[in-house]
Amino acid sequence: MTRQKPSPLIVLGSGYTGRVLHKTGTSQGKTVHATSRNPLKNLADISSEQRLRFDLEQPSTWPNIPADADLIWCFPATPLEQVQAFARTLDAPPRRIVVLGSTSVYDTSSESTEYPPPWIDESAPLDQTKPRVQGEEYLREHHGAIVLRVAGIYGPTRNPLDWISRGRVEMSRKYMNLVHVEDLAAICLLAIDKGKPGEAYNVSDGTPHTWDEICVTAQQRWGVTVAATQENRTSGKRISNAKLRAELSYTFKHPDLYEALALIESGTG
Ligand SMILES: NC(=O)c1ccc[n+]([C@@H]2O[C@H](COP(=O)([O-])OP(=O)(O)OC[C@H]3O[C@@H](n4cnc5c(N)ncnc54)[C@H](OP(=O)(O)O)[C@@H]3O)[C@@H](O)[C@H]2O)c1
Repeated sequence: MTRQKPSPLIVLGSGYTGRVLHKTGTSQGKTVHATSRNPLKNLADISSEQRLRFDLEQPSTWPNIPADADLIWCFPATPLEQVQAFARTLDAPPRRIVVLGSTSVYDTSSESTEYPPPWIDESAPLDQTKPRVQGEEYLREHHGAIVLRVAGIYGPTRNPLDWISRGRVEMSRKYMNLVHVEDLAAICLLAIDKGKPGEAYNVSDGTPHTWDEICVTAQQRWGVTVAATQENRTSGKRISNAKLRAELSYTFKHPDLYEALALIESGTG
């Protein structure tokens, strides 16, 4: 159910995604504040009324978060003790919290030998030894946070073609799941309005690709030279976004990786 009264929105941690979120939320007519550990340096281009100093490791900065604001948490929710202490200072609902998690939290210790790998939905086991899992699950279970388990984020200045040409990735049969930062920002805003408190949603464009396929396409379409191939038998994961599509009715702006890369390469995406 959509709420009646719009609350101010705080982007906790205004890095790559947080900045796009701030811009998208503002363009939708919302009152959006951005935080940084060093706002004067890192948020110099954002008006002084819209920027706040916040550092999870410095409790003296926590009261800077307005009491009635909704939060979109855009950095890893760790360490647990600090997350718990900060969360206890927040009001009870109706404040709404969206936390950006990662699809890396799914437990791969028992990865199947099936290839292609099976689809993973939100009910798959989590690797509880990961600090961010502990922080995210605490916020979900005790504060009704909506956790978005996010695939690899790409967009302008985070371009998979650069990852290939710089040798950060190599050809392999491993599956990669991606989401464009503009879709991620729009999904965060939708989750604040329509997400169910205490739920987790996978966020991926829904079409996993192998690095073999991405590298071959990169070479054919954009002449990107691929660094040497190493034997990598890891199968990766295939992340299902069915829950996101069904429950939040989101339509992707960039469902097709290669069309999105063409826009980025042309400087228009
Ligand atoms: N990058 C990916 O492909 C990917 C994939 C899956 C999930 N994720 C997750 O999605 C979220 C957003 O990713 P992103 O790449 O947009 O993040 P990002 O660019 O690293 O931005 C996060 C920002 O949060 C601030 N921050 C960091 N630690 C903080 C702390 N202890 N207290 C307060 N602020 C802090 C930093 O800004 P200041 O230095 O200005 O304070 C940082 O720039 C992260 O949780 C990330 O782990 C990322």
